[in-house]
Amino acid sequence: MARPLNINISIEVLTSENELTAPEKRAWDKAKEATNNAYAPYSNFLVGAALLLEDGTIHIGNNQENAAYPSGLCAERTALFGKSAVLPDMPIELIAVAARKAGTEAFLCGSPCGGCRQVMTEYENRQGKPIKILLQGKGTEIYRLASVSDLLPMQFSKMDLLG
Ligand code: THU
Repeated sequence: MARPLNINISIEVLTSENELTAPEKRAWDKAKEATNNAYAPYSNFLVGAALLLEDGTIHIGNNQENAAYPSGLCAERTALFGKSAVLPDMPIELIAVAARKAGTEAFLCGSPCGGCRQVMTEYENRQGKPIKILLQGKGTEIYRLASVSDLLPMQFSKMDLLG
């Protein structure tokens, strides 16, 4: 007999930036600033990501496109791979992501792509500690997620590979 399997995910909706903690606000501002150095001449869609690390420092990334389209990389992965190359053992507290169209100032409501969710999952599992996520919501709202597993339920992880 078929039965439903309901998975609950939790998203906190903040009414504005004013509800962010001071470290969250620093990461949020850095993610927005990081859109300035996105290289997106093909999509004109500028994305910035900022990782708030356990020691309070911030590591940023932005999307880097290529004439051979699949060779480009999203902002979130640019940030995560760059940080992991230099500070592999430093836990990540939070990832803030911001996106806007080139030539415009307004940040868009949006959510990371599937590939970036998978990579976030890997690093969350690697550090054994949740990574919080901040995303632009509707209007002035900000979405705060307590863990990458709220963005990617039913994950494929090393447990599936190695048992
Ligand atoms: N992009 C990101 O940087 N992050 C995402 O999560 C989704 C998409 C970039 C990839 C590409 O450079 C542009 O946005 C349009 O897809």
